[in-house]
Amino acid sequence: MREKENRMINPLRGMKDLTFEESQRFTHIIDTATKIAQRYGYNYIETPILEETALFKRSVGESSDIVGKEMYQFEDKGGNDVCMRPEGTAGVVRAFISTKLDRQPIKQKFYYYGPMFRYERPQKGRLREFHQFGCESFGEASVYEDFTVITMISQIFTELGIGFDLKINSLGCKACMPLYRENLVGFLTGIKEELCSDCNRRIETNPIRILDCKNGTCQSHLVSSPKLINNLCGECDSDFKKLTALLDNACISYTVDTNLVRGLDYYGKTAFEFVSNEIGAQSAIAGGGRYDRLVEFLDGKPTPAVGFAIGIERIMELVQMPEIQREGIYMGAMTDEAIEVLFPLAAAKRKETKVTVEYNSKGFKSHMKGADKANARYAVLIGEDELKESTIWLKDLESKEEKTVLLSEFQDTN
Ligand code: HAM
Repeated sequence: MREKENRMINPLRGMKDLTFEESQRFTHIIDTATKIAQRYGYNYIETPILEETALFKRSVGESSDIVGKEMYQFEDKGGNDVCMRPEGTAGVVRAFISTKLDRQPIKQKFYYYGPMFRYERPQKGRLREFHQFGCESFGEASVYEDFTVITMISQIFTELGIGFDLKINSLGCKACMPLYRENLVGFLTGIKEELCSDCNRRIETNPIRILDCKNGTCQSHLVSSPKLINNLCGECDSDFKKLTALLDNACISYTVDTNLVRGLDYYGKTAFEFVSNEIGAQSAIAGGGRYDRLVEFLDGKPTPAVGFAIGIERIMELVQMPEIQREGIYMGAMTDEAIEVLFPLAAAKRKETKVTVEYNSKGFKSHMKGADKANARYAVLIGEDELKESTIWLKDLESKEEKTVLLSEFQDTN
């Protein structure tokens, strides 16, 4: 045997275990979001965590920070260039095309949840392995679908008891975006000297992302930059106005943020972010938008699409948890022989309810503490007297009512 290495092994930096209290919050979020997504006609989809690196380069974009700096990318044992997914949309679009769903005339809607990986500098609200709940709707070009997706997210947050601010923008389409980009590059070249090195690099590679630069000096020079919202083509302009009218009618408050460009390259037209002012600097709790050209770009049949993803860890501490109800039965033996009776009884009752069994015989007080810890609704104890008389002692821990019941009778009741 090898010599024992003398150090404790912890999770990697920026990665976390999810244990008891947090895992309950996690499950509650997923259950709530799933229930609402299903009401909107979404079906569950599961795609691999590991994909060809080319998928993310072609969808999220080579000039994005995610692809340029943050990918968990490596060569597998077969020499393939692979990557742990940094987000969910690219994989779902790939699956939509790989399984030929793009060839079917019906509209398809998918929801998913699971881990995503980005090699960022960890800080509060920013992990290297984090979880998203996401939805992708394929085949619907109408701005009503953008509105419906935004409504769905606000319904999820409302049901979870989370307050939010909604920011929206339009990123234009293949008709108006190139003209705007040219216009913007002209403006940026004029203020080149004043911009940070990242922005200078982006003038060539991804000028739109400059609008989103966090550097204060850059932002002060960008105040007078041309705004895409004022340069939209007729269709994008009327879609955006329709979206704001629908939100106004539904009393969903929002702000138009002309600098909201999103960190992924596939968006066009509607882009949005939900933010919370209660969680510090990493305030985006959900993001998404329309990506009508991505399916075609990944060699599928041209299909309009819109979607979003919620960052689970970011909303974990904001969620208002429902009161946990007492549930199931705690069973305890007060003599060793009684365990022999309890054990098959527990197996039978587990067909109907949650059962916690204490295998060691213990005193009354200790068992009652155990029942409380297990948050059980009922405590069932068997001691010497019960053994002799083929009975059990039963206490309803909510009503505090207690009684002795024939074992056979208890076995037959639900
Ligand atoms: P995203 O804005 O990159 O969009 O991520 C969505 C959400 O994931 C963010 O709003 C944030 O809450 C959470 N998130 C992102 N990075 C981290 C991190 N390092 N640590 C913790 N949470 C994080 C997307 O991923 C798109 N795929 C959304 C989408 C779906 N667009 C269309 N369909």
